[in-house]
Amino acid sequence: GPSLRALADRAGVRVGTAVDMAALADDRTYRGTTAREFNSVTAENVMKWESVEPQRGVYDWKAADDLVRFARANGQVVRGHTLVWHSQLPGWLTAGVADGSIGAAELRGILRKHITTQVKRYKGKIQQWDVVNEVFEEDGSLRNSIWLQQLGPSYIADAFRWAHAADPKAKLFLNDYNVEGVNAKSTAYYELAKRLRAEGVPVQGFGAQGHLAIQYGFPGQVAENLARFEALGMRTAFTEVDVRMILPVDEAKQATQASYYRKLLDACLGARSCRSFTVWGFTDRYSWVPGVFEGQGSATLMDEEYGRKPAYGALREGLAAG
Ligand code: G3I
Repeated sequence: GPSLRALADRAGVRVGTAVDMAALADDRTYRGTTAREFNSVTAENVMKWESVEPQRGVYDWKAADDLVRFARANGQVVRGHTLVWHSQLPGWLTAGVADGSIGAAELRGILRKHITTQVKRYKGKIQQWDVVNEVFEEDGSLRNSIWLQQLGPSYIADAFRWAHAADPKAKLFLNDYNVEGVNAKSTAYYELAKRLRAEGVPVQGFGAQGHLAIQYGFPGQVAENLARFEALGMRTAFTEVDVRMILPVDEAKQATQASYYRKLLDACLGARSCRSFTVWGFTDRYSWVPGVFEGQGSATLMDEEYGRKPAYGALREGLAAG
């Protein structure tokens, strides 16, 4: 049958995957599947700050460049992930802030330089950037991070302004997990986005990561949530979809998983604002889930041997219908 990519092309949407660059280099099946099944790619790790500037002023763009080149060779767009995050920061930066050798004014300059350098490097080659990632807690308060502590909440608007100045055509996103449906955290994003846009800050998109778990149920009011961001004039996207479960796998769990993938996809395709649906890896062979959630896994569309699960078929049917 047709690939996910072929169906997405027909529907005029992007179906993407996070890419593990080590797997892309070493595993021919992985490489072929990435090219065949997806028309969008996101770096799972190699565009994060600790990867691109491991020592202060010493940049390593090799893996990120490789992905951008792969995408171009295969006619894929790239989602940039991620410019401002509390995690995967380089050691020199966290240590410098912790020991006081990097103060607030210097830190602000460092952040500005980081965003400007990275966004300029890929100017015209990144369709959407996750500018700030995971800035709220579950209760809707701003997450405690070196950014909030040192710079105050204005770092968010600054980050969008700097990214926009570096590549005015890239669509700039807020991005987080547990914000698929309407809840305290997604409402905090909605209020933030509304305020920033009223102030003229260039924030154009809201990304719901979509890391679901069948044991927690499907989130409520997903369509309503996308609709309220759409009403602000924003794009929406699912940016990191996977659906984990408590192992072992059985048929009923796989069926539930398939329905969750399909429901997220349908929510996206049912919203005019949502034209991009990305999975966080497509094979269990390289999934981040088992390493983080003990006893859980099988979160992706294909098993470790690239065997397609019902979830793959569910996305195919959803794209064919959309
Ligand atoms: O590359 C090193 C390797 O050299 C070293 O030997 C090995 C030993 O631990 O670590 C390797 O780095 C790991 C990296 O993944 C690449 O495999 C890091 O330890 C590990 O922390 C890192 O995990 C990533 C995680 O983000 C970090 O927070 C996951 O792969 C990645 O899937 C995950 O992605 C995040 C999104 O960016 C944001 N949303 C949530 C999502 C899932 O947590």
